[in-house]
Amino acid sequence: MKIALVGATGNIGREIARQALARGHQVTAIVRRDTALPAELDGATLAVAALDDTDALAAVIAGHDVLASAYGPRPGDAPAAVAAVATHLTDAARQAGVRRVVVVGGAGSLEVAPGVQLVDTPTFPDAYKPIALAHREAFKVYQGIDDLDWTFYSPAAEIGPGPQQGGFRTQATAFLANADGHSRISYADYADAFVNEIETPQYLRQIATVAY
Ligand SMILES: NC(=O)c1ccc[n+]([C@@H]2O[C@H](COP(=O)([O-])OP(=O)(O)OC[C@H]3O[C@@H](n4cnc5c(N)ncnc54)[C@H](OP(=O)(O)O)[C@@H]3O)[C@@H](O)[C@H]2O)c1
Repeated sequence: MKIALVGATGNIGREIARQALARGHQVTAIVRRDTALPAELDGATLAVAALDDTDALAAVIAGHDVLASAYGPRPGDAPAAVAAVATHLTDAARQAGVRRVVVVGGAGSLEVAPGVQLVDTPTFPDAYKPIALAHREAFKVYQGIDDLDWTFYSPAAEIGPGPQQGGFRTQATAFLANADGHSRISYADYADAFVNEIETPQYLRQIATVAY
């Protein structure tokens, strides 16, 4: 498949790119400035476009099967940037005729009970609230879209370095935790699930998650 990927220089995006390349897909890494990609992403094509330049973004994603994004705001960026990027990505996808859009979301928008999102629970850590609420605003952007095949793919509550061990579960809508109440996934296993979703769509126009 031809995958256009925003955020390939980030923690999660790098792993998505690496695994997509390893599976034989063509990856176009969309970056904001000309940069050297890490050696593990040899084989990816670099394309420079500003995310808020719809014409430029549409031009570089045209002809791809999917627009994927592991975008995340860098320190100092306004939380509102997350929803703005959702609008920019989907505008560009429409303009380019790319119907499938798969994005890294936030665990805070997953439900712990029908209609109750994790971010609204009393024990949700204050430190993560701004980014979780920013992702919820982005999720609302996607929820309003019915002319693109989007998936808002949220990691488990905790995501970090670790082996690709498999044995993860995925599901739509509801927050996933193990029997001890921990919700965790490695970058590698999250990327595995993310690339699976690109190859074989399972959660069209839904929020979904992956955890052990
Ligand atoms: N449990 C959870 O819900 C959870 C946990 C962790 C992460 N996340 C979410 O997952 C996503 C990825 O996380 P991460 O840790 O991989 O993030 P990261 O390492 O900070 O990477 C962010 C990526 O976004 C790119 N980016 C940022 N601003 C950009 C802009 N204006 N134009 C173009 N590219 C831009 C960065 O490119 P540059 O190299 O050019 O800056 C980088 O590739 C984030 O949205 C984060 O909130 C969710």
